[in-house]
Order: sequence, then C-alpha cells, then structure tokens
Amino acid sequence: MRAAIAAHDAGADVAMISKLHPTRSHSGAAEGGINAALGNAADDSPEIHAYDTVKGSDYLGDQDSIELFTAEAPGDIIQLENWGAVFSRREDGKLAQRPFGAAGSPRTIFAADITGHVLIQVLYEQVCKRDIKVYEEFFAWQLVVNDGRCQGVVCWDLLNGGLKTLGGKTIVLATGGAGRQDRVTTNAYACTGDGTAMALHVGVPLKDMEFMQFHPTTLYPSGILLTEGCRGEGAFLINKDGERFMKTYAPNALELASRDVVSRSEQTEIDAGRGINGSVMLDMRHLGAERIIDRLPGSRELSMTFAGVDPIFDPVPVRPGAHYHMGGIETDSDGATELTGLYAAGECACVSVHGSNRLGGNSLMETITFGRRAGTAAAEWSLANTTVDVPESAERDAEQKLKALLDRTSGERPWKIREELGASMLENFAVFRREEQMVRQVEILDELRERYRNVYVEDKGAVFNSDLTQAIELGNMLDTALCMVTAGIVRKESRGAHSRPYDYPTRDDENFLHHSIVYWRDDGPELSTKPVRFTKWEPEERKY
Ligand code: FUM
Repeated sequence: MRAAIAAHDAGADVAMISKLHPTRSHSGAAEGGINAALGNAADDSPEIHAYDTVKGSDYLGDQDSIELFTAEAPGDIIQLENWGAVFSRREDGKLAQRPFGAAGSPRTIFAADITGHVLIQVLYEQVCKRDIKVYEEFFAWQLVVNDGRCQGVVCWDLLNGGLKTLGGKTIVLATGGAGRQDRVTTNAYACTGDGTAMALHVGVPLKDMEFMQFHPTTLYPSGILLTEGCRGEGAFLINKDGERFMKTYAPNALELASRDVVSRSEQTEIDAGRGINGSVMLDMRHLGAERIIDRLPGSRELSMTFAGVDPIFDPVPVRPGAHYHMGGIETDSDGATELTGLYAAGECACVSVHGSNRLGGNSLMETITFGRRAGTAAAEWSLANTTVDVPESAERDAEQKLKALLDRTSGERPWKIREELGASMLENFAVFRREEQMVRQVEILDELRERYRNVYVEDKGAVFNSDLTQAIELGNMLDTALCMVTAGIVRKESRGAHSRPYDYPTRDDENFLHHSIVYWRDDGPELSTKPVRFTKWEPEERKY
C-alpha cells in the first residue's frame, strides 16, 4: 500500500492486486512497533540506528542501504503520524518509544501492541482517498515477461474464478514472507512466498535465502506472536526452575539481546531438559496489571485466548517460531530487481538491510521506507516509458497449466504434502542446523516436489476455490524452501539466524562474508555469491 501511494503521488496510474482484502494482510499482525531514531526517550540518531542494524545483521547487511534506511525512517514516521496513525504518546506529548532487542536506544515507536494493525488501517485510508483501484481477492500467480521486461501479472480471480491478466509498465511485488513452510510460525496462512517464487521462476535472483528468523516468543502451542514489546516493557524469560536464564547467555542485554541470540538460548534450555513441554516461560507478573493492560492489551488477550493463561497472574509458555525471512528477491535501494520493470519491497525483497538477523521493529519500517522508494522509482520508470505489450500466449500458457492441474482426476491432496513440508522444515532447518539434517531435508524436498507433480485438486469449482490456490501456494513454498536449505548447506559457518554449533560454530568472515545468490535453473537452485557493501563499520565480535 505504501508503494501504491508513492507511485500514485508521483503521477502514475496505479492499481493494487491483493490475495486478501488489504487490511487483512499479514502486516496487520505486527505488534510491538516500528523503529526510527526520533530520540524521544533517550539520545539517538540515524547513525546509532544504522550501527545497531549492521551489528544485528552480523555484518551481512549492505551498509549503504542501511544508512539510507535509518536516515529516511524518521521522516516516514512523521508522515504516517500526519496521516492519522495513533501512536502511543509520552506525557510530554511526544511519540513514545520503547526498548527493543539489540537497540542502543529505546527507538521503537508503537501503538500499544497493535502497531501493524493501526498502520494498515491508515494506509488503506490513504489508498481509498486516492481512489487507487484495488483488485482484491486476486491471486497473483505468474509474471509476464516480454521483450526482456516484466510487463504484467497473470492472476486467478478468487471471487469469480478464471484467469485475469493485468498489464503494467512496472510491477512492484510486496507479497510478504514464506513462514508457512514451517509448522510453528507466527505467519498468517497467506504467507506462502508467492512473490518470491514468481520472481525466481522468471529468472530473477534471490539473495540470502538461508536466513529465516525464529522469533523467541511465539505462544505454545499455536505459534502466535507474543510481541518483543513484552520484553521491551520488562518481561523476563524463565526456565522450568524459575531461573532467569538469559543471565547466562547475554549478561548485559538479557532478554533484549538480538533475536538470534535469545532464540538460541531458549532452544538450548529446552534441549537441556530445562523447559516445559518444549517451551520456556515469559513472565510478566512483576509488570503489574495496570502496565500490562495499558501497554500490552493484545498480548494479554492472545495469551488468555490461545494459551489459557492470564499474564497478570501466571507466566506464559513460549518457544521460538519461524517469523521473518531475511532473504528474498534481490533489489537495489529503489526496489529494482535484475529484471527491467520488476520491483520488490518488504519481506519478499532483500535490499539488504537485515543481513543474517533482523532487529525487531525494523521490518514495519522497511515496508514503509522501501515501499515508498520502490513505488516512486517504479512510477518514474513508467512515466518515462510508454508501451505495455502483454502477448496472448502469456495467459494461454497459464491456462494450459491450470487445465492440466484441474483435469487431474486422482493424486495426492496438497494438505498432506504441506504438512510434511512444515514438519520436516521445523525438524531439519530451524534454530540449530546440522549438515546431515540439511542434506536430508534436500532429499525430503526433492521427494515432496516429485509427489507434488501429481497433486490433486478435488474442488473443480470457480468460486473461492481455496483447494486450487493452496495447491499453487504449496508449489511456491516447496521451491523457495529448496533454495533456503541448499544455501544453508553451502554456508559453512554460524552467522545470525544460521547457526551450526556442531560443525561450524563461529562466524567465518574470511570465507563467508558475502551474500548468497540463488538462480532457478533446470528446475532447481543454482548458487553463487555477491560481495557485501561496506561504508564504515568493519566486522567485530558481537557481545550482548
Ligand atoms: O515482536 C514483535 O512485536 C515483532 C516485531 C517485528 O518482528 O519487527
């Protein structure tokens, strides 16, 4: 939505395509806040924000993009506030800012613990105000490439059925993550890596695919997010003996160490038998009822509804869950990909500002700052180039593929393969990674992809055929998962979210301080590397 608004304001004729009604999109689930160095709660600056982000990325973030990001973030926050975002405030009237993990200053701006929900309403209002055409409940399936340019999207109309092809001089993908390929995830059912797979399949490279972030506090057993804001407000993590175990792993930052560190600490406690039912406990009792109700009402509600625990009175069971994919479609700082006419922003893109580990609160900000930049750049290109040419063959090819899928009268149901994908990714490619498990996971994925060739869509109807869309989503998840695990095997070091404590326990800057790049060739991933861009920060050891 931020990209569409920027493109419209730059003078382009814009339409949005969305699998869901726009306010149902997964950004609405972002809870704890959005980072910008306003300095309202303590000294801060874009430079400090940039340094924290570089360090948090374990030095894999591109520093020029990071500096640009942190410099432009404060202006973008003011813009959102002027559009009506009701951020929480301090007594002096300034926007409140809370501490978040690995941040050198309290810089996370928030609307209680429903920040994403608030922002999404504000953006949708701006979309409506501009009368931007929204093709909602349109499932974007394939990109149209003609004359060496991306010139459109083939979609499935969920409400009425049938393929619809929309031409465009430029396309901005903002399709979010792929967390649903893991069985325990904070991600909504819609997060199936569709845009990432679409780009991959037309030859666009993906970057740093091995880095999937596990958020330390997802509710047991559902995987629903309990915001880092709980720890920002002072919540403790305790094991089954009531010990505040982060004192052992990060004596200074404690629960506010970066997410990779906290997730590993929790997993170590659980693996050592100091958890309860594969979880540790998030203890908020000492915050008191008033603060919990004022600052963390959503978290309380979620804990009561989905874990049956009121955090005012009892600790809540939490464990690491797949949350955010740092990798994605390789773009420059204007969202441009290697394919002329194709742009990407947000979680499906890899600019890269997060490197191998994203800081909490930097994701919402990334969608806004780089969404705006991508929308503006895409509009500028469109206004300077006149033609759109979508050949009939594009839709015809898609139709044939669809027909082959729907004509099949027997085969395996998508849910079965999907379930095995989720369980095996969690088993073999989670917080800690072992060479033999990753190799095994590639074999499992090969086998699942083979079975997928005969996937059977039982519902042959046109209207809201979720059986069909789930089958297509499954194909997207299988291919992107294969890229992730293959890149993970090749990265023989531990960096950020990619932790190999059993064979390569340390970061190896000499051999692996580079991005991994994946192309899709001959129906499989082909890997190469690309240098990280540095401006001023040399790699140091991370201490928390
Ligand atoms: O914990 C959270 O509120 C999540 C925020 C984020 O992923 O940036």
